[in-house]
Amino acid sequence: MTTTAKADAVGVSHTRIEGREKVTGAARYASEIPFTGLAHGWLVLSTVARGRISEIGDEAVLGLPGVLAVLHHGNAPRVTIDFFGALGQPDPIVAVFQDDRVPHAGWPVALVVAETPEQAREAAEALVVTYEREPHDVTFRADHPDVYTPQESAAEKGDLEAELAASAVVLDASYTTPEQHHSAMEPHAVTVRWDSGRLEVFDSNQGSKWIADDLAQMFSLDGAAVHVRSEHVGGAFGSKGLRSHHVAAVMAATQLQRPVRVALTRRQVFAITGYRSPTAQRVRLGADPDGRLRALGHENRSLTSNLREFVEGSAGYARTLYDAVAHHTVNRVVPVDVGTPTWMRAPGEAPGSYAVESALDELAERLGMDPIALRVRNEPAVGPVSGLPFASRNLLACLEDGARRFGWDARDPRPRVRREGRWLLGTGVAASTFPAGVAPTTASVTAEPDGTFTVKVTAADVGTGARTALTLVAADALDVAPDRVHVRIADSDFGPAWVAGGSMGTRSWGWAVMAAARELRERLALAGGDLPADGVTVRTDTTALMATLAEKERYAYGAQFAEVAVDVTTGEVRVRRMLGVFAAGRIVNPLTARSQLVGGMTWGISMALHEEAVRDEASGGHVGADFAGYHVAAHADVPAVEAHWVDDPDPEDPVGIKGVGEIGIVGTAAAIGNAVWHATGVRHRDLPIRPDRVL
Ligand code: MOS
Repeated sequence: MTTTAKADAVGVSHTRIEGREKVTGAARYASEIPFTGLAHGWLVLSTVARGRISEIGDEAVLGLPGVLAVLHHGNAPRVTIDFFGALGQPDPIVAVFQDDRVPHAGWPVALVVAETPEQAREAAEALVVTYEREPHDVTFRADHPDVYTPQESAAEKGDLEAELAASAVVLDASYTTPEQHHSAMEPHAVTVRWDSGRLEVFDSNQGSKWIADDLAQMFSLDGAAVHVRSEHVGGAFGSKGLRSHHVAAVMAATQLQRPVRVALTRRQVFAITGYRSPTAQRVRLGADPDGRLRALGHENRSLTSNLREFVEGSAGYARTLYDAVAHHTVNRVVPVDVGTPTWMRAPGEAPGSYAVESALDELAERLGMDPIALRVRNEPAVGPVSGLPFASRNLLACLEDGARRFGWDARDPRPRVRREGRWLLGTGVAASTFPAGVAPTTASVTAEPDGTFTVKVTAADVGTGARTALTLVAADALDVAPDRVHVRIADSDFGPAWVAGGSMGTRSWGWAVMAAARELRERLALAGGDLPADGVTVRTDTTALMATLAEKERYAYGAQFAEVAVDVTTGEVRVRRMLGVFAAGRIVNPLTARSQLVGGMTWGISMALHEEAVRDEASGGHVGADFAGYHVAAHADVPAVEAHWVDDPDPEDPVGIKGVGEIGIVGTAAAIGNAVWHATGVRHRDLPIRPDRVL
């Protein structure tokens, strides 16, 4: 191979290593890998919203062409979810076919397996399932009588009521966000087969070791007997953990002793892979005339299922962001008869930032203050509730740089004074923050006799460019050119690793890769001479390294700016331009980091203007659970989005990466909503800002 000159690879744009494979179709996704003797499973989901299965007409469909098996609660093997995996106890929906109970609409009740997907689908649609219905309640209401406060969901400092009473200006406003869905381009799919006593799983997930360990536990298998790979993933956003189709596929492959594939339809993705809960949030702010916050109250209500507690932690957003004499923030939940919500891009921060950053804009208006100046006024010196020092905090630099680039200083603060034909124009701003976490990971680096290096880490590239980023990190740590480094990811045999989640992937995997690569370099320098035939390998686990980080508040920050035009005749809101400036630590690959940030901001447009899942109260299911019914921003909705970053060093952090997967969506919807107010003079406190709401 050609050996290019050594380079400082990190910080220089690099196209995706697997980019050509992806755009030519050579990259195989989970449902595309060919197998001999492959059988196809089709999930059957409950059509009732609560009750019991009284009969499954499997005999009738077993005679249909190609049908091999019908798995259901009467014949499926027993599994357990009575364990805590890498990310907690699995969602009960993954323990499929264990009893006759139907806790919500869309609950998996059977898997039909056939020779072809068409035969499986036909038989699944012909399967008659009879239910005993029970009354259900699927409606999320902030004043639901069953609302409760989960453990450790509140944070308090000072006397909120007293500080509100002492405030010159008080804002008390409520905001809602609807149920939202991840809608990854690639629907969930898995192919499973037994091979020489090992369960081989070809998957689309956010963490292959996580899936492997959870499957081993569920089926009481030895950990080494489960092997999960997830080479390419067409989007995940929190939804691609262990799900019902994995478990159903393992059951079928075990029973039939054949490879079995289960791919979900878009509607099934809506029904059984999790979603973001709707929220109802009350924000109370009290300020002195100069804008200093005396009181910051944030009460968030979200829904959870009757099966498992999931908290959409929106009220956590301001705990680290704004100073106030008194802080009271709490997340409460309402359990109803629906599937359990899950993490969806910037869980907590995305809806929480909408409420808080909108409320600050309203407060700025009442104070007659510039909204950026209000945020600057309430910049804390240490964690406002925790009292912990910040590792690095560059929110003000983002606001300043963003204001300069966006042209904020020329802004006339008065609403509804800019008109262009039938369009009213306005601009808005919001801040943004997201935690910069890290978690233990194992990586190995091998010096091969041919002069190349092989890196192995159970990372997941969910479309982010993780494989490429890790190549750059390894190249720098080894002090070689990136083309001498081969990074292999998404294979559970490579060992424990953090998942592609929490904006912690590149940082967690990168730390392990850096540590292994540096140690390898030292070892090679000492050894000298020719390498043995199988090379020299160093394997590193970062568990002990994590402990060297001092306890501090570690966050990324951003400033979001939006310009909108509102059609006074139709109520349509068009985003004309958006600009975000972020402080997100070391940017490994500017090309893909920018895509992550712009992608997050684009999702913020969807959140502000389009996204809304609607449940039918009678059936408990979704209305329009597809891309025709569930709207996301199309290309024409996204005219000009710029993402920039400021230098954000943290000298104490050996990795310096903060993560860019989620911060792009945080604050975006508020910036757009604030711009709509500036254009029209009307506040919208319920997302999405649909034309019928604007009129
Ligand atoms: Mo994501 S919601 O961090 O998987």
